Amino acid sequence: MLRRTLIAALLLAANAAWGDTVAVIGTGNVGMALGTEFAGLGHDVIYGSRTPDSEKTQALVATTKDASAASPAEAAAAADVVVLATPGMVTERVVKGLGDLAGKIIIDVTNPLIFEGNPPVVTYGTERSLGEIVQEAHPDAHVVKAFNTIGWRVMIDPPTPAPVIPLAGNDAEAKQKVAGWAREMGIESVDVGGIYHARATEYLIVMMLNNNFTGPGGFTLEFRQLD
Ligand SMILES: NC(=O)c1ccc[n+]([C@@H]2O[C@H](COP(=O)([O-])OP(=O)(O)OC[C@H]3O[C@@H](n4cnc5c(N)ncnc54)[C@H](OP(=O)(O)O)[C@@H]3O)[C@@H](O)[C@H]2O)c1
Repeated sequence: MLRRTLIAALLLAANAAWGDTVAVIGTGNVGMALGTEFAGLGHDVIYGSRTPDSEKTQALVATTKDASAASPAEAAAAADVVVLATPGMVTERVVKGLGDLAGKIIIDVTNPLIFEGNPPVVTYGTERSLGEIVQEAHPDAHVVKAFNTIGWRVMIDPPTPAPVIPLAGNDAEAKQKVAGWAREMGIESVDVGGIYHARATEYLIVMMLNNNFTGPGGFTLEFRQLD
């Protein structure tokens, strides 16, 4: 653990001059997709995993440029930017274990989904949005709800014309930074206002998945910036 912390601290110091250190919490499809994308933009990626030394996590590290892995709290401590890519229903517990994230940008990609039955019926699993829950857990961090309305394959290989994602958050500068990173990945964005609006973006996924699984027909979600 000490070795991983030292490596993470050295990475942070070395990277300070030219890029951000991005902690990606969760190493599933979204973690893999955004970790790979942020690494491709020249940032140092630290995967925050429950099992940083496992074969699966180390395989992901090996295929991600300039990446390492640590526990979620160690990764978050060493990072400038924290990407949340955990199952929605554990996200509150996970973020409360990440230590002091004051001043950092938190990109919250999670959706609070509960799947029941086969074919599944999807329900919205929290009283308030996960975006708001994360912001309340870290009042001095800058939470931006982002990327949660597109699939992980689109994150890796966005179509043309570029998909447009909504960004919800209380800090304009943080949203601008996330918009810039998204654009570098081939994804456009619209600023939909404060973190209060995270719920609307999260709930759209409930509607979309239910229609895809059991509704009259599947669809994707598209946003368009008015001139
Ligand atoms: N799949 C998509 O296309 C998509 C698109 C937009 C948004 N989202 C949202 O993004 C989030 C991640 O989705 P995903 O598809 O990447 O999920 P996933 O494949 O299930 O991966 C989630 C990762 O979170 C970690 N994790 C799992 N259970 C955990 C627990 N109980 N406590 C702490 N960490 C746990 C695991 O990484 P470690 O084992 O390394 O800890 C796991 O690989 C979800 O909230 C989802 O709704 C998904």
